Amino acid sequence: MKTKIVLFLFFIITAYFNSLIASNFNHNFLSKLNNPIDSIEYKINILLKKMTLQEKVGQMNQYNGFWEVTGPAPKDGNAKSKYEHLKMGLVGSVLNVKGVENVRKIQEIVVKESRLGIPLLFGFDVIHGYKTLSPIPLAEAASWDLTAIQKSARIAAIEASAVGINWTFAPMVDISRDARWGRVMEGAGEDPYLGSKIAAARVKGFQGTDLSANNTIAATAKHFAGYGFAESGKDYNTVDIGTSTLYNIVFPPFQAAVQSDVKTVMNSFNVINGIPSTANKFLQRDILKDKWSFKGFVISDWGSGAEMIDHGFAKDLKQVAKISANAGSDMDMESYAYVTYLKELVETGKVSIKVIDDAVKRILRVKFELGLFDDPYKYCNSKREKELIYHPDHLAAALDIAKKSIVLLKNNQQLLPLQKTQKNIAVIGALANEKNSPLGSWRIGSDDNSAVSVIEGLKKYTSNFVYAKGTDVTVGPVSFIQELNINETDKSEFNEAIELAKKSDVVIMVLGEHGFQTGEGRSRTKIDLPGVQQQLLEEVYKVNQNIVLVLMNGRPLAVTWADEHIPAIVEAWQLGTQSGNAIAEVLFGDYNPAGKIPMTFPRSIGQVPIYYNHYNTGRPGPKPEVFWSHYSDESTKPLYPFGYGLSYTKFEYSNLQINNSNPSAIKVSLTVKNIGSFTGEEVTQLYIHDRVASVVRPVKELKGFLKYSLKPNESKLVEFVLTNKELGFYNNNGEFIVEPGEFDVMIGTNSENGLTGSFIKK
Ligand code: NOJ
Repeated sequence: MKTKIVLFLFFIITAYFNSLIASNFNHNFLSKLNNPIDSIEYKINILLKKMTLQEKVGQMNQYNGFWEVTGPAPKDGNAKSKYEHLKMGLVGSVLNVKGVENVRKIQEIVVKESRLGIPLLFGFDVIHGYKTLSPIPLAEAASWDLTAIQKSARIAAIEASAVGINWTFAPMVDISRDARWGRVMEGAGEDPYLGSKIAAARVKGFQGTDLSANNTIAATAKHFAGYGFAESGKDYNTVDIGTSTLYNIVFPPFQAAVQSDVKTVMNSFNVINGIPSTANKFLQRDILKDKWSFKGFVISDWGSGAEMIDHGFAKDLKQVAKISANAGSDMDMESYAYVTYLKELVETGKVSIKVIDDAVKRILRVKFELGLFDDPYKYCNSKREKELIYHPDHLAAALDIAKKSIVLLKNNQQLLPLQKTQKNIAVIGALANEKNSPLGSWRIGSDDNSAVSVIEGLKKYTSNFVYAKGTDVTVGPVSFIQELNINETDKSEFNEAIELAKKSDVVIMVLGEHGFQTGEGRSRTKIDLPGVQQQLLEEVYKVNQNIVLVLMNGRPLAVTWADEHIPAIVEAWQLGTQSGNAIAEVLFGDYNPAGKIPMTFPRSIGQVPIYYNHYNTGRPGPKPEVFWSHYSDESTKPLYPFGYGLSYTKFEYSNLQINNSNPSAIKVSLTVKNIGSFTGEEVTQLYIHDRVASVVRPVKELKGFLKYSLKPNESKLVEFVLTNKELGFYNNNGEFIVEPGEFDVMIGTNSENGLTGSFIKK
């Protein structure tokens, strides 16, 4: 017994002195890295020389924290060994740890107890806000307002940094043409030009102008590459795309993010043309790091390394570690491959130490740039945490971008805006009363039920309405990781809604998808109104046709019946914290909607993938015969084209002028006049078509847009300049080329309507 006590005491004392020695070493050593005169590269090299191979590998390892889970892992996982690994310097970053107190606790373990005390990066999916949520990214893209989008990311960074987070896994810049894919809600839609502008704006918003400030965080452009082209829209599915699509559609937003100095890039779960992205040397080394000179680091997606065993590309975790590191995936999220095998792989010559050093330098660079070596606790200030969460300025900005994201899809006989004196309003639909769904599915930082519902928003304008649910949009508990039960059958509350509609003058129906019906792992084969909502809509229509349909959804919906019957349709997506306030302002005309859809709305699921910048084919049509590229049972036209959206006012386009005297700066201009009776914003869009090229060009390509406001009767001269950057394209060798020849140009209010002209480019 005595010996046991002595041994125990000896153990405690030794542990205490070891931690003292480690912490002293850390302090002395880390303070050497604080000299502002020395360059970051110099400091990285000093630190690298001090590091053992094991410590280097540790930097390349990321663990999920102990609370939230955003991937398929047991909640408390290997909590104990993870904790030991932190002390051993075997962890470079953690994800899903939030709150100043928690971040500080974990940072302290590493800084005080590990030999070198290299601070951790704290990563988190801050997708469209932390606590104060802006609209889902697809909705924000509908604003076409780069300033507002940048500001939204800025606010997300301010709130996230106030709770200890210094790295967000956003923006997702994957282009997608498939409304079945659940993650379209997280991106900017189908167009590489708009997508690139938004990618740059969001990176700038998150990272600010000074990454070392305490309210800026590192951003991540994800998922490199092709993830949005998952076959049949099924998440994580195979991607097989040609060179032209890869270079001209998929790559541009990533390149724009890199040019905006994004600090990290996340690879993707999918195989692309047979090679998983995580082990894809062409993507990560040849394109990203060599061709684009990306200086940051690549993080794998959650377990995307280990998943290569299921893909049939690696036989075991050891091979995973080898092929991922060699291909340029610098940090391993939750595969446990690097931490388990990389050291051995270097020692046996399977992975070169140069590969490790390059990855570690990249990771350390981001840590230095964030200023973590100057102060590892710089994001751990409880006062900031209290002051900044749900700050009134943030709520005001969230309301601003929520309004800007709303798209008016239809407004026959000017049913909207409603008079503020309007009597007898019926409000129908479970989503009208939802405080949770408008937050979308990516809201792990935010509080459940923290959105303003439509009912709450309407109450600020009027008490002349009565509410009836009609039907559920969902039944049972929903959360980020739980499956969603959809009510497919229950019509027991239809009657109440129908009776209410009968005696009302106008009916506001709020229908669509629950926030948890889109997002990761939430692909659907049906893109109409889920459950019995369509039947409810048709039943209500039978008794009252004066319907304003407010759609809430995270993807384009095929609401063709509604378009044919319902006089007014408002696309309100999932608008975040201020959802109900924004919708009410639009319905009652205090804000004139100006959003334009960033993704084509199909007429039916069978048209998917449907997108505006397709090729012409050899048999374009329409033709009065059977042999042209079309369907025999559906139009080839979309329900609503890319870039479409109405206003309470009307804009008239005239006087298109093209000046091609300078072939490297072709000027295109026209006049736009507000001929309606409301002040309104318009997004004028410029599209080109290269008639004959060495690689076939799309029928239209967006190459410029401008958003501005006009008072009634006011006109504006809108001008665009087309340079080689807009007129060129990538050929199938991945070279950017500009070919002379004839171009069509269209400037208009959406991708289908506008003034057309043409010019010769010399
Ligand atoms: C998997 C998702 O694909 C990725 O976008 C996300 O950042 C990680 N999980 C971490 O939550």
